[in-house]
Amino acid sequence: MKRWRSTLLAVGAVVVLGGIGAVAWRQLSEHAGNALTAIGGPFSLTDGQGHTVTDRDLRGRYMLVYFGYTFCPDVCPTTLAAMAGALEKLGKTADRIAPVFITVDPSRDTPKVMHDYVAAFSPRIIGLTGTPEQITQVTREYRVYVASHRSREGGNYTVDHSSILYLMGPDGRFIAPLRTDTTADQMAGELVKLVSGASS
Ligand code: NI
Repeated sequence: MKRWRSTLLAVGAVVVLGGIGAVAWRQLSEHAGNALTAIGGPFSLTDGQGHTVTDRDLRGRYMLVYFGYTFCPDVCPTTLAAMAGALEKLGKTADRIAPVFITVDPSRDTPKVMHDYVAAFSPRIIGLTGTPEQITQVTREYRVYVASHRSREGGNYTVDHSSILYLMGPDGRFIAPLRTDTTADQMAGELVKLVSGASS
């Protein structure tokens, strides 16, 4: 009877521990698969001078990536202004970060339009556009939500898009998301924490 009970307990323990292990493993792999390694990826886009810029060209520096479009009425200009202010506050540390603004509206955001737009915020920000296929690829890699809405009158349209800043490491891997509804001070503080070994 005693042995029976200990056998039952042992079997129970194996089942419980096995269950916990399976759940933990699944959570870990989902976390690693979805949240970390799967964000970002290779891209080939065009900068304000009409030159091709790939993700590999920006390796060695952290990359702060934001997706939006120049006709955006509010969120994009607010975010880019905060980004420019944060970079300003970071001083020399900002040299270790490549700030990148990628359009989700390539048909209106030509290289020239992107160039003039980002220049109004900061000479540091690299504005990138591309073919619709190139933009679709990069927005998928970064899991950006994009939806165009055409207005009834005229040919104007707005583009809904998710608003997240992505900090990528010097090796191109995703490090962390940053909120966009913050002040330049808050954003600078977050960046200092995330850019390891930062010195200014
Ligand atoms: Ni926007």
